[in-house]
Amino acid sequence: MGKEIAIVMGASSGMGRECVLQIAAKYPGLEELWVIARRKDRLEALVPMVGTMEVRPIVMDVTKKKELERLEKLLAEETPRVRIAALAAGCGYNGAFRDLQTDEVRNMVRLNDESLAVSMHLFLPYLNEGSKVLLFASSAAFAPQVNFGVYAASKSFVLSLARTLHYELRRDKICVTAVCPGPVETEFLAIASHGEAYDPLKAKFLVQPKDVVAKALKDMERGRELSVYSTSMKLVRFATKIVPHAWILWWESRGK
Ligand SMILES: NC(=O)c1ccc[n+]([C@@H]2O[C@H](COP(=O)([O-])OP(=O)(O)OC[C@H]3O[C@@H](n4cnc5c(N)ncnc54)[C@H](OP(=O)(O)O)[C@@H]3O)[C@@H](O)[C@H]2O)c1
Repeated sequence: MGKEIAIVMGASSGMGRECVLQIAAKYPGLEELWVIARRKDRLEALVPMVGTMEVRPIVMDVTKKKELERLEKLLAEETPRVRIAALAAGCGYNGAFRDLQTDEVRNMVRLNDESLAVSMHLFLPYLNEGSKVLLFASSAAFAPQVNFGVYAASKSFVLSLARTLHYELRRDKICVTAVCPGPVETEFLAIASHGEAYDPLKAKFLVQPKDVVAKALKDMERGRELSVYSTSMKLVRFATKIVPHAWILWWESRGK
């Protein structure tokens, strides 16, 4: 077996970038950190920021089968022991289903679901006793959302998969935690709102990526199935368990 490493997908920005910085600070015993995203300059900028271990930028579009095959080959060549994997690459686009571009629909499903599930499957042979995985879902996973329907559905997929894996992999002592934040101040928001002002109701609940990631790493260490940052999102989760989803959809669709 090769080096002890952590892998962060979606490392060039937002919560993925935070994962890189906080994992490097918290786990100095790791030998290497593999950081994955499309923007090479952003990944390379992480190298001097992490002094405690080697950072290996891997520039790829994880929605492309050929590029994931390159990652599969690299894993087979290096046979690393993956101590931590944080799968944070994701995107969302606001808008009624009929108004979305076909590519936006495709991108959400491919990136949030297909690439995440396939990557998790590629990493699995290199995870072993004590390994930990963060799968980035969202509080949008808790219930369907008017004008954010594909995104919410794509994140329900992640939450459902993460919860299953939490139990399936428990016998191998591998811990999978679903991270389910509400709105977080990252590039994601401008992309989601097509560069326009963000939904004022959601903007009231904005939190910082460093706080969400710090809580996620703590929950991961405690072996939790779920990491939900902030009291308001815990309340949202509770509400979506007791209020019929048809009522939530009716409330969300008023005046739209
Ligand atoms: N921000 C929020 O309000 C919020 C709330 C709940 C959950 N989340 C979820 O949390 C995760 C992280 O979100 P964030 O807010 O940190 O978003 P972000 O700042 O927009 O970062 C997204 C990351 O994904 C990477 N990425 C996008 N498309 C990719 C592709 N095709 N191949 C490889 N990498 C790709 C981006 O890098 P490149 O562009 O360089 O490829 C970037 O590093 C996502 O799964 C998101 O859905 C976000």
